[in-house]
Amino acid sequence: MESPFKADAVKGKVALITGGGSGIGLEITKQLGKHGASVVIMGRRKHILDSAVSSLRSLGIRAVGFDGDVRKPEDARRVVESTFKQFGRLDILVNAAAGNFLSSAEDLSPNGLRTVMDIDTVGTFTMCHEALKYLKKGAPGRSDSSSGGVILNISATLHYTATWYQLHVSAAKAAIDATTRNLALEWGSEYDIRVNGIAPGLIGDTPGMSKLVPKDINSQAKNLLPLYKAGEKWDIAMAALYLSSDAGKFINGAIVVVDGGFWISQPRPPIPKEAMRQLSRSVDNKARDGPGGVPRSNL
Ligand SMILES: NC(=O)c1ccc[n+]([C@@H]2O[C@H](COP(=O)([O-])OP(=O)(O)OC[C@H]3O[C@@H](n4cnc5c(N)ncnc54)[C@H](OP(=O)(O)O)[C@@H]3O)[C@@H](O)[C@H]2O)c1
Repeated sequence: MESPFKADAVKGKVALITGGGSGIGLEITKQLGKHGASVVIMGRRKHILDSAVSSLRSLGIRAVGFDGDVRKPEDARRVVESTFKQFGRLDILVNAAAGNFLSSAEDLSPNGLRTVMDIDTVGTFTMCHEALKYLKKGAPGRSDSSSGGVILNISATLHYTATWYQLHVSAAKAAIDATTRNLALEWGSEYDIRVNGIAPGLIGDTPGMSKLVPKDINSQAKNLLPLYKAGEKWDIAMAALYLSSDAGKFINGAIVVVDGGFWISQPRPPIPKEAMRQLSRSVDNKARDGPGGVPRSNL
């Protein structure tokens, strides 16, 4: 689908995207690049980065890849420094890197929990921490010394309620949302950096989804999803573009849910809508005809 944003929405900006070599992170990278940003992607597997970089360059996007593990502070520092060396500034940091697997709470080892917390939560914070010196107001390379950059942290909606076999991810994503809000408070006040989150719902055609929901989600989703379909990577990328462009200049500390209304959804009630209307009318009539009656509704 064509983007509704102008092609220069983030022109001249430099964006660093962790997990930018695949899935949602790659689509965010692509859309930031198509709207004028120079992009750097980070991940552990070099061949994944190389193939993503060549696909981005084939679209005319200025792109480079630096391999590294967000769990290692020295990798985070090296990639942030390399980004600055390559493009001379840093405006947008997107933390999309994450680990996931299915496990019941009973089978989940403390190490399994720790690994996901390390990648998702500690990794997100480590990247923010290393990027601060280039994102803050007046940082090296920032031509507009009066404003700071933007951080986007990708979480999920799993922890809004509870999710089977996802204790580890729910805990990690809840901590990411808390990190987002606290950084928005502190770094918004001190450095004019806007820090926001995006919470995707079920997004089709992603590595995460094929790992966790092996069958075609759209064919079984009719009764589950209010909009009758899973989302697309594009939907998340458009939210990222909105939040990182000037369109989002007054948005700070928000977690934007992009899930088609999935997390608020409930099974349809057992009583069909027409039967509910008749029941409601008969209850209303009985109450009106009874002793004392009820005041007539003006609605
Ligand atoms: N797919 C969905 O429906 C969905 C729903 C809700 C939230 N999300 C979130 O959206 C984001 C993207 O998900 P996705 O499904 O598109 O999955 P994905 O492509 O598998 O994303 C994970 C990316 O993170 C990188 N990564 C993992 N561990 C890393 C580490 N330690 N250091 C650096 N990079 C690392 C991976 O590359 P390497 O393995 O090469 O390092 C990969 O590129 C994740 O934060 C996920 O939790 C997805």
